[in-house]
Amino acid sequence: MKEKIGIIGSGYVGLVTGACFVHFGHEVVFNDIDELMLEKLNKGQLPIHEQGLQDLVDFGLKNKLIDVTTDKKQLVSECNILILALPTPPKADGNADLQIIRQACKEIGQSMAGPKIIINKSTAPVGSSHLIREIIRHYYPGDFDVVSMPEFLQEGKAIESSLNADRYVIGFETKTSQKVRNQVLDLIKPFNSPIVETDNRTAELAKYICNAFLPLEISFINSMTAVCEKLGVDIIEISKIMRLDKRIGTKAFLDAGPGYGGMCFPKDVWSIIGIADRFGYTHKLLKVVDEINVRQQISVAEKIEKFVKGVDKPRITILGLSFKKNTSDVRFSQSKVVIEKLIEKGFSDITVFDPIAINNFRQFNLPINYAHSINAAAQDSDCLVIMTDWDQFKELNLIEIYNKMKSKNLIDARNLIDKEMAKKLGFRYVGMGRI
Ligand code: UGA
Repeated sequence: MKEKIGIIGSGYVGLVTGACFVHFGHEVVFNDIDELMLEKLNKGQLPIHEQGLQDLVDFGLKNKLIDVTTDKKQLVSECNILILALPTPPKADGNADLQIIRQACKEIGQSMAGPKIIINKSTAPVGSSHLIREIIRHYYPGDFDVVSMPEFLQEGKAIESSLNADRYVIGFETKTSQKVRNQVLDLIKPFNSPIVETDNRTAELAKYICNAFLPLEISFINSMTAVCEKLGVDIIEISKIMRLDKRIGTKAFLDAGPGYGGMCFPKDVWSIIGIADRFGYTHKLLKVVDEINVRQQISVAEKIEKFVKGVDKPRITILGLSFKKNTSDVRFSQSKVVIEKLIEKGFSDITVFDPIAINNFRQFNLPINYAHSINAAAQDSDCLVIMTDWDQFKELNLIEIYNKMKSKNLIDARNLIDKEMAKKLGFRYVGMGRI
């Protein structure tokens, strides 16, 4: 059955979720407080860069499957299924701030005149479905259902990782009827991914725990970088050997690098620490995961400092500003941490390049230069640092770069480069856990 689905919060998760439903022929109405963004979306102009998203949005607009509105009343009256994809930013104590969700639920409740299915995709602590129910019920005493469906998409491959997800987790309330359960399951079945049907508290907690486990893997491998460097062992080989252990797995997050960034891992690790704190449990393990992550980012700045020691007013080149490849997202970008550290240490000649994240990065107002090509960024540089794992950095023309640079220092914070080739050309090379 084709549904009309309202997406409340048309940011990363909302846009991708809506686009995927459009792919399966459902009608989608996007809602947001950002009117300009919605207007642009309605003309096919997207606020984010995600492979495949433009095609789906164009398809939806062409086939009149997409509409936009800032008006929640209209949205609620038109759509029987409402998906919450709202931000839950971290508060000072690490816990997720649910203010935006609270406000949206108030407006939903005030607008409801009949039963609806409200699906929460925002990453929100255990008990959020209950909170959503309580707020809506305050304004609308009739019947409705709240479902928790955590989001597991990966930025940079959001459409692909949604259409071919490892699993969909759907948390229902005990009272949810089989009819409503089937309606929700029918929405998700075409995704052709395993579905875990569970209760909403389990679904809510599962998301957090998954987003704490993956950073644990990253910080684990990053904690080994210094050891590998001291012993002259290449960490890439270690990760390869580890991943061949089926209990660890070929896709384990064991790429050593400049630490994890992005809007999910840092925030969700802090959030779990905050949740545990509230229950009187000090989550030492995750505190260390976070500490290692911060340390790892700073260690890149230290490597730079070491390489250009003695150079007068060194020119530093940073390649990559987004927190990972294939996205323009610079939230909790590792490059920002490194650049700020360099500025703090007195570096005043920093040039950066990124294929698509430059405009987003400008918002930080850092005293740096923006280059519009790799070669321009490398011109007269004393140290070139690869911060993001963009494919084009993997395929750097090392000879060209070498000829442009003043001092031949190369810091490969993503372990992308053929280090033997770099050294043969005359570069002084260091990666993360490889020398
Ligand atoms: C992450 C999770 O992977 C998704 O499952 C989840 O849905 C999402 O958060 C979310 O909560 O919305 P995302 O933040 O888009 O997805 O990106 P990841 O691919 O997980 O990478 C996160 C960070 O870890 C990046 O900075 C990446 O470069 C880094 N990373 C990843 C490593 O340093 N090493 C690795 O081996 C893997």
